[in-house]
Order: sequence, then structure tokens, then C-alpha cells
Amino acid sequence: MSPTHQPVLAVETLHWLAPVSGGVYADCNVGLGGHAAAILASSAPDGRLLGFDWDEDALALARRNLAVYEARTWLLRRNFIELEVTLAELAIVRIDGLLLDLGISSLQLDGRSADGSARGFSFRRCESLDMRMDRRGGRTAADLLRDLSASELADILYYYGEERQARRIARAIVEQRRQVPLDNTGQLAELVAAAIPRRFHPAKIHVATRTFQALRIAVNHELENLATILTMAPSLLRSGARFCVITFHSLEDRLVKRAFRADPRLRVLTPRPVTPSAEELRRNPRSRSAKLRVAERREETG
Ligand SMILES: C[S@@+](CC[C@H](N)C(=O)[O-])C[C@H]1O[C@@H](n2cnc3c(N)ncnc32)[C@H](O)[C@@H]1O
Repeated sequence: MSPTHQPVLAVETLHWLAPVSGGVYADCNVGLGGHAAAILASSAPDGRLLGFDWDEDALALARRNLAVYEARTWLLRRNFIELEVTLAELAIVRIDGLLLDLGISSLQLDGRSADGSARGFSFRRCESLDMRMDRRGGRTAADLLRDLSASELADILYYYGEERQARRIARAIVEQRRQVPLDNTGQLAELVAAAIPRRFHPAKIHVATRTFQALRIAVNHELENLATILTMAPSLLRSGARFCVITFHSLEDRLVKRAFRADPRLRVLTPRPVTPSAEELRRNPRSRSAKLRVAERREETG
């Protein structure tokens, strides 16, 4: 495991997921394999893990980090919304636990891909505005900035970034793209800073944080994917199986909270979300917005 890689809420997740030998667990966001390794270690000797990640760089590292568990793992480069068909392909009827650890990994935020191309998630460097986690297809952030109307852009910024200055930023994007293509992170960060009057700049976060979050969510269809798996998962869980979800912003957390409460097949085990300890926050400041919610599949009736 890379020395800088720290799975978020690792102890708490393991406690709630409670993996046991013989169980089959799905890790829908395998990333670098931090949570997956913990699940495999605590379900030894014969717990099995099905790991999804659609980012080929993440999956390559996960394969390396989980090599000692190879005989007990399936690692797949797939969108996690393919969970149901994947289980059918593997002839697995029900699973004993499911983990979602949503959002972006530090590998994606910090870096370049194995082939040297930029990822474009961060406003802290100047690079091409891609933002796709899965680069096999789909539109990049630069494509959206080029093709969408001002009102479509404003909606994305407002709903996915909770950005109150959405209209101002969208107008500035449309004005700028008439003169030059808007296709790198530095340009976009500068544009946002210039479009928002100084007195409205947030005190605690970079002025472009919400815009970058909104575009990333739109490019990767993050909320649609989350809604799909929240609907799909309960029927794939054995009774008593735990469904653990770690989110990183209020839009995701709200979706999870509502889906758990509304589903009669689930019993909510965490009325309030579990958050990182003071110790974890000190060690890993990026964990500060993490929230873990857990539900349990009820006994089937009828
Ligand atoms: C926060 S990281 C997971 C970190 C991981 N739990 C660990 O311990 O290393 C989230 C990962 O989920 C992946 N991801 C996000 N949405 C996905 C989706 N719909 N299907 C498959 N992978 C997805 C991202 O590519 C990223 O690698």
C-alpha cells in the first residue's frame, strides 16, 4: 500500500460492515484497495471480495496492493451500477455486505495518469480540463464548458456545486469561450475568481472549489450513479447484510439518508452519520467532510 494512502473511516467501516470468513463482499469503489485489503484481512481465510473501479490507474494499483489476496478477489473495471449483472455473471445470488466510498481518490486529485496525461480535477495546477474518472468515453469538463448553454451551465453549478454565484460564472464562461477555448484548469480557476465579486469570495475554501466539484459531478454522472445503486442494492443483500456508504458532500449524504429511510427492506443503524475521529482528522485533513451511514437488510417476509 502506498505510504500516503489512508482509507477514510477505516476502523468504523470495518466495525459496521463486520466481515466474516465465508462471506462475499462488494467494494464498489476499490480505489487503491485500502478498504478492500481491510475487508479481505478480516474475512480470512475464505471471505471473497468483488471490487469495482472504472479508473484504470486506480485498478492497476489496487491489483498490486491486493496481490496477496488474489485468489479471493475479483477486480473489475466497471461502473458500480453494473453490480447486479456482474453478480449474475458470477452466479452469486446474494452478498453479505456492500461498501460505497464515493468521490475522488487522492490519486486522482493529486496526479497524472500512468500514461502521463493530466486528470484535470484540481485548480491547484494548470492542466487540461478532463475530469473523467473513466476515460473510455463520455464528455470531458472542457466539452461541457464548450457545448452547454449558459442556463445549463448555471444549473450544474447551482445544483451540483451549491454555488450561489452560478449565473455570474456561467455568463463569464460563455463570454470567454467566444474569444478563446476554455480548456484548462488554471484558466477556469482565474475566470471564476474574476467573475465573483471579491466580497462574495468564500472565506474558508478556494473560490473555484464549488465550480470544480459541480463539473466533476456532472462529467461523471455521480448523483445518477449513486441513485441507481441505492435502488439496486437492497435486493442483492442477504438478510442481515450491512450496506455502508461513505459520502463527501451534502448532496450525496442527503440522497443516502433519504434512500435508507424510504426503503422498507432496510433498517437504519446510524440515525446520525459516523464522522472521523479527532485523531483521523489530524492525520488526514481530507477526511473532514466524510460521513458514513449504515443500513441493514431486514429479514425477508412473505
Ligand atoms: C474515494 S475513492 C475510493 C478509495 C478506496 N476505498 C480505497 O480504500 O482506496 C473512490 C473511487 O471510486 C471510483 N468510482 C467513483 N464512481 C465510480 C463508479 N460509478 N463506478 C466505479 N468506480 C467508481 C473512483 O474512480 C475512485 O477510484
